[in-house]
Amino acid sequence: MFCVHSFSSKYKNTPGRPLHLNMHSHFKNIDHTDVAYFHKLLTDNRVFVDEETLTLYGSDETEDLCFPPSLVVKPETTQEVSAILHYCHAQNICVTPIGARTGLSGGALSIHGGVGLSMERMNKIIRIDEKNGQVETEPGVITQVLQDVCAERGWYYAPDPSSKGSCFIGGNIAENAGGAHAVKYGVTKDFVLNLEVVLPSGEVIWTGANTLKNSTGYNLTQLMVGSEGTLGVVTKAVLKLIPLPRHQMLMLVPFYKAEQACQAVSAIFQAGLMPSALEFMERDAIDYVLQFLDDVAVPVEADVQAHLLIEVDGNYPDALMQDCERMMEVLANFECGEPLFAEDEAQKNQLWKMRRKVAEAVKSHSVYKEEDTVVPRYQLPALLKAVKEVGAKYGFRSICYGHAGDGNLHVNIVKDQLSDEQWNQMLPLAITEIFKHTIALGGTLSGEHGIGYVQRPYMQLAFSETELALMKAIKSVFDPKGILNPSKVL
Ligand code: LAC
Ligand code: ZN
Repeated sequence: MFCVHSFSSKYKNTPGRPLHLNMHSHFKNIDHTDVAYFHKLLTDNRVFVDEETLTLYGSDETEDLCFPPSLVVKPETTQEVSAILHYCHAQNICVTPIGARTGLSGGALSIHGGVGLSMERMNKIIRIDEKNGQVETEPGVITQVLQDVCAERGWYYAPDPSSKGSCFIGGNIAENAGGAHAVKYGVTKDFVLNLEVVLPSGEVIWTGANTLKNSTGYNLTQLMVGSEGTLGVVTKAVLKLIPLPRHQMLMLVPFYKAEQACQAVSAIFQAGLMPSALEFMERDAIDYVLQFLDDVAVPVEADVQAHLLIEVDGNYPDALMQDCERMMEVLANFECGEPLFAEDEAQKNQLWKMRRKVAEAVKSHSVYKEEDTVVPRYQLPALLKAVKEVGAKYGFRSICYGHAGDGNLHVNIVKDQLSDEQWNQMLPLAITEIFKHTIALGGTLSGEHGIGYVQRPYMQLAFSETELALMKAIKSVFDPKGILNPSKVL
């Protein structure tokens, strides 16, 4: 791992000396007066300056990047978050909100050191309002935990990023996370009704109302969703729930041509079908994941190039069966093999595990760079073709997979045998070309992973100067001193 700021033990416990030097930023370095303030505010061992903790909280799932904060704090209440931000605002100390560190765009990396604001102790589900179909939660709740608790009561919180077993609701809100079921039910933004937010000044606001509809003023709720912790810190969220569908059918369909798998995607919707998940995996993605997981075995013929993982859900098995039959009629127009139907819950879980572990499997295999391209659904085959052409031009291999029903293709550019020099020279050029193709097809840079730190250089490909100036103006209204999550998004 490449650590950008190395903690300087020379300064440890030296009164008046900075704990950590920020060579390139205008923020104040944290000193022992600051540490004493945080210790007084957060009793019971909730302030950390040890190297191990700082290094741990300096990375997420984004490549091998590591930007440690100078200090990590773990508040438990909105009032504590407010006091931390109020203090840092006054002292000009930068603050990076940190969730479960599962992000893929570096949104939680402490680029300028400062305070790492870990939300992990704010992990209570406050209330499930069964009468209205809503849940109020703190941001540090694991997405899967929230889903399970709601499901026990017959309610469904649908957004399910692949990291749902470890990611936090707060991080999902910050990045507007999606996942496999977004195609039918929407992404995180479609489930967020109202947010309690601590502003960089320390003031606390609620963004909206606990209603399904709201045409009252500007939509601050949706401005916060996907703002990647740059405008405020979410301390409570009121989320919409929907009745839990009682049955699912899941099939894995092999294709002999990857582009045909992509073509089948829009054909399914044009035939009037509404899958609850429609995922694409290239051959290499499957091979890597099957090598990576000991407990999952799926037979794959030698000449299969890609798979679609297709799920339908609802309350009536007969209706789902009819949907699957109609699906087979549509798929018969493409060169695909016999679908594998999951026979029971265990098989369904295996197929989902296989899909959700692709990113980890690729990461375990080689250094890679992940892009999160998204295009209108019908353009998916054209996007895949463009990615492969850019790969041929620059000499890299790519492993593509993702949420095909949403036109959302995760492109893993694999380093393989390329030298560091080739890799570093080639990547920005190749990524720029991939993004230009994506935008020309009517798409954009990120469908669900966010811009964070690593996609920032490409924002000008997607937005005009006027558009970027509007975003910068919004940022400065919320955070005039720029202390909150600096060097992200813009
Ligand atoms: C997935 C993550 C990487 O779809 O977004 O698996
Ligand atoms: Zn994804």
